[in-house]
Amino acid sequence: MISFFNPVSHIFTGPGAISNIASHLEEKGFHKPLIVTDKIIAQFPFFKKFTASMFSAVIYDKTQANPPDTQINEGAEIYKRERCDCLIGVGGGSPIDCAKAVGVLVSNGGKISDYTISGSIKRPIPYLVAIPTTAGSGSECTSAAIITNTQGHHSKMAIMSPNLTPSASFVDPEIMLGLPPALTASTGLDALSHAIEAYLAKNANEYTDGLAFNAIRLIFKYLPRVVANGGDLKAREKMSYAQSMAGLAFNCAGLGLVHAMSHPLSATYGIAHGSANAILLPWVMEFNAIARYDKLIEIAEAAGENRWNLPKRDAAALAAKSIRTLSSDLGVIPNISEAVSALGKYADFEKDIDSLVNDAMNDVFKNDNPRNVSPADIRSIYASCWSSSTIDLIKKLKNG
Ligand SMILES: NC(=O)c1ccc[n+]([C@@H]2O[C@H](COP(=O)([O-])OP(=O)(O)OC[C@H]3O[C@@H](n4cnc5c(N)ncnc54)[C@H](O)[C@@H]3O)[C@@H](O)[C@H]2O)c1
Ligand SMILES: [Fe+2]
Repeated sequence: MISFFNPVSHIFTGPGAISNIASHLEEKGFHKPLIVTDKIIAQFPFFKKFTASMFSAVIYDKTQANPPDTQINEGAEIYKRERCDCLIGVGGGSPIDCAKAVGVLVSNGGKISDYTISGSIKRPIPYLVAIPTTAGSGSECTSAAIITNTQGHHSKMAIMSPNLTPSASFVDPEIMLGLPPALTASTGLDALSHAIEAYLAKNANEYTDGLAFNAIRLIFKYLPRVVANGGDLKAREKMSYAQSMAGLAFNCAGLGLVHAMSHPLSATYGIAHGSANAILLPWVMEFNAIARYDKLIEIAEAAGENRWNLPKRDAAALAAKSIRTLSSDLGVIPNISEAVSALGKYADFEKDIDSLVNDAMNDVFKNDNPRNVSPADIRSIYASCWSSSTIDLIKKLKNG
């Protein structure tokens, strides 16, 4: 098999990394960035200090989580009106993806839903600097932007092109120190989902396995520590490496059913991306087990599980168990109904399931899954983790 790997050309990682951005842009000959961020990030002292060093920067701070297509048009209008010459995305995956998508419209015109088909982005986007403030999405290392389509029923579009890979990324753990525990947990579990899906994906290769497995190892070790104490700079630094390595890995290996099924949950109910992945991850790992026993055993060992004397199938099952234990230790909601009701909404299985299954079947990341998938499989996985009572029922069935 011919393997493929396309890294970001510059990744600066470590405490204080963002202090090099102004000189980096000057060196490249850029003077007027459009800085795409959100209202929360825009209030942080690091952001104010950082923008103060760039006199002619224009700021777009309206990005919402799971960014809607309408914001992309708005950002592109501002870029053109203000005659900006480059882009900076600062925030979690949402502002970085928003910046990428703004770049697509600036260079290629039209509307963002015109670019869901592979090969449709013909022209490179402007020079893009990505600055992640979560250790989660890995968007600073990927050629994808995930944008919510607000036409008709809401769904998430994956815009993918090598043209979207950031020109340079500055991964600075100091600006992640204030990320609250719940967000640290959910975004960290997004990074773990990337690493595990990339490790198990159909197109995994030796490059991506090296990065994905190291990310898995670091996340099991440092995520609990950083949720317990957000000010632990060493743990934040390890998590920032892990998220970027997971991003580099899945950018080439692909993802799988966790992401294919979590996108409809976020688009339909607004569940945070990492929280939706955390619910689905152990169930999808169990579904995929027959395709990847050996790699699941390696994941279980990285999580510190003892597989001594266990038959292969039972040893592989420890991987999903370790995810459930980690999520529970981190206080993450383990089922869809409770995650939706925490947002003040109601998840109606009978009413919504057909549309969720249909959207998951059409999600591009489904194609990377190591085991072939039918609509009935997806329905059954959603049903299993729908509520605490469905989870209890499955446990009883498994235990005979
Ligand atoms: N492009 C890709 O390759 C890729 C990969 C995975 C996920 N995504 C997308 O990324 C988005 C999710 O990104 P995310 O999980 O990083 O979160 P996010 O950008 O949606 O932000 C979530 C919340 O965290 C807050 N926040 C961010 N950094 C903070 C900090 N340092 N301190 C305090 N609050 C902070 C934000 O203001 C926001 O309220 C989704 O839309 C998902 O689909 C993209
Ligand atoms: Fe993700």
